[in-house]
Amino acid sequence: MAAVSTTSSLPRHVAIIMDGNGRWARKRHLPRQAGHVAGVATVREVVRTATDVGLSNLTLYAFSSENWKRPQTEVGALMGLFRLYFRNDLAEMVERGVRVRVIGNRSRVADDIRQMIEEMEKKTVANTGLNLTFAFDYGGQEEIVAAARELARAAKESRLDPETITPELFATRLFTSGLPEPDLVIRTSGERRLSNFLLWQSAYAELLFVDTLWPDFTPALFLEAMGQFANRERRFGSLPEAVA
Ligand code: FPP
Repeated sequence: MAAVSTTSSLPRHVAIIMDGNGRWARKRHLPRQAGHVAGVATVREVVRTATDVGLSNLTLYAFSSENWKRPQTEVGALMGLFRLYFRNDLAEMVERGVRVRVIGNRSRVADDIRQMIEEMEKKTVANTGLNLTFAFDYGGQEEIVAAARELARAAKESRLDPETITPELFATRLFTSGLPEPDLVIRTSGERRLSNFLLWQSAYAELLFVDTLWPDFTPALFLEAMGQFANRERRFGSLPEAVA
């Protein structure tokens, strides 16, 4: 297994599409919800590992804007798990110096969950350890459209010259403003898609698809994924150093 030994070899920002909870449950003849329960345990372990190794930024795709279309029982069970997680894990996150953010469309989220999110963000705002971001009721295309709409409105009201719009300015209108772009995006469960996750932000990210289902994803596999990243060469469109 490739080990991650020093902070300098770590990616700056790892983003994870946590996929495969349903299949994990089906393999065991359990209801899908049981897969999500097991998935929360993996979230906890991955966050602990991230803080243990000194990772700076971790973003987890917890609930997509399309996930509302799932059966009401499953959506309800997931919301129940978010409530439990946000309530029960906050103390440990504070203790570990984690700063929590939640990105996505809050208007569709139940009031009590919205309040928990606000409390969690407020209680951890001064923490300087891991920046942990949950993408929750999140969709990348919607995020980009909202940013474009805001800039268009500013231009229409003569508060902005359209010629001054650059990628850097555009990025300041995204939910992730202030965070570095992910340099490693991991998707579990063998699917090879981005599924509307951090579309703008992942322009230069290394993509790593692992076959393991999310509930089976272990700290060792997480470390191995980061170790693989350290061994890949990133060029951002230029030539390798030896050739340039
Ligand atoms: C994908 O599995 C996973 C989700 C839709 C949600 C991710 C949620 C968790 C890991 C648990 C809760 C998280 C937190 C932060 C408390 P799937 O249901 O799409 O699996 P399948 O593709 O095998 O059906």
